[in-house]
Amino acid sequence: MSICFSSHVFNLHSAKSQSFLTRFSSQFINQIQVSSNSPCALPSSPLNLSRLCKSSRERLNPITASTTPSVETVSPTSFRNKNPKDINVLVVGSTGYIGKFVVKELVDRGFNVIAIAREKSGIRGKNSKEETLNQLKGANVCFSDVTHLDTLEKSLENLGVPIDVVVSCLASRSGGVKDSWKIDYEATKNSLVAGKHSGASHFVLLSAICVQKPLLEFQRAKLKFEADLVRAAAEDNRFTYSIVRPTAFFKSLGGQVELVRDGKPFVMFGDGKLCACKPISEADLASFIADCVLSEDKINQVLPIGGPGKALTPLEQGEILFRLLGKEPKFLKVPIGIMDFAIGVLDFLVKVFPSMEDAAEFGKIGRYYAAESMLVLDPKTGEYSSEQTPSYGKDTLEKFFERVLREGMAGQELGEQTIF
Ligand SMILES: NC(=O)c1ccc[n+]([C@@H]2O[C@H](COP(=O)([O-])OP(=O)(O)OC[C@H]3O[C@@H](n4cnc5c(N)ncnc54)[C@H](OP(=O)(O)O)[C@@H]3O)[C@@H](O)[C@H]2O)c1
Repeated sequence: MSICFSSHVFNLHSAKSQSFLTRFSSQFINQIQVSSNSPCALPSSPLNLSRLCKSSRERLNPITASTTPSVETVSPTSFRNKNPKDINVLVVGSTGYIGKFVVKELVDRGFNVIAIAREKSGIRGKNSKEETLNQLKGANVCFSDVTHLDTLEKSLENLGVPIDVVVSCLASRSGGVKDSWKIDYEATKNSLVAGKHSGASHFVLLSAICVQKPLLEFQRAKLKFEADLVRAAAEDNRFTYSIVRPTAFFKSLGGQVELVRDGKPFVMFGDGKLCACKPISEADLASFIADCVLSEDKINQVLPIGGPGKALTPLEQGEILFRLLGKEPKFLKVPIGIMDFAIGVLDFLVKVFPSMEDAAEFGKIGRYYAAESMLVLDPKTGEYSSEQTPSYGKDTLEKFFERVLREGMAGQELGEQTIF
């Protein structure tokens, strides 16, 4: 039996599940460039110019710094007493959907931002060095490799400045099994180790609310790193963390806007109430993450966070869209059993063809986002709770839909596998 989906069935309410079906059908069936060997970072921004251009003689020794304040003598919150321009914030995952906004927000708040990037960044490495530098304006861009601890440590050493805070927005671009462990766990861990060696006493992690119910590899990888981070703080009372677990991003919910405008129905699973979320914009989330750099009330906390307003089901998201378009609502409800069947087939196939491991994982990711809410899971009731999911920011999904109707989905592209 073959499974075929008509083109509009690909347009499920969640871009993640939507993209899964697309994949399923095709598969199943500042400016300154600091390379890892660059001796000195030359910032284009005026921030900390003198500090960043110290001679190699004065560079920070990662463990026994002598010309910069000794890491040992710095109390965990001491960087919080400094002026933002004197606080060095290292951002890894700086070129991602959220990372770019985090860099901008931190730069706007006056921090001295050091952004780690790849020479070819963005989805499928589409951005050149020049484009990356342009995207990360105001930050000191350090081209390095977070997947190799030695390389990353050398890059940070070469910068010649201590790091105060690490912010990680790293994530696997594919969500595949091996890549999730490589990035969401190992590369993020490298950033922790290298950051600590360079003096970092606080780590802000962009995680995901869905790790509360871990059924997917990327969630397990993220949870393992979260546990390492908590352990690092328990073992060293000068070190702190903030773990940010956001609900759904706008990019994951905008996949149907243009199709519905063009007359297609709004497609959703079950009765359209299976999964709800409090969507948060890139700018609002970046602002919340930037708050975590200095806010003492966010120290050593796991912080679930959503956007403004109440939680929205796919049905309600569709209703908003039809209202904006002034059209009569037209929904297509797809039984969730279709996903279960597809996953069953993929799970069977992966036993015979282990190379289909990622295809099977993408199926599970699609199923997960079609059925699970992106809200705080109440431990007492085992139910997702809109009330217990904190809201932050001002950008609403309705305004986002309006913008997409006006300007299209530019800047909201999904990752390599078009799942998230
Ligand atoms: N989508 C949602 O609705 C949602 C909701 C809640 C939480 N989240 C979580 O939010 C996090 C960030 O999401 P995002 O959409 O901002 O991620 P993204 O756009 O995919 O960005 C990923 C970042 O990690 C870097 N990276 C990936 N693989 C790398 C590698 N091999 N070497 C070096 N760097 C690498 C990328 O660098 P390049 O640019 O060089 O590739 C990029 O900077 C994820 O953990 C996700 O689970 C997502």
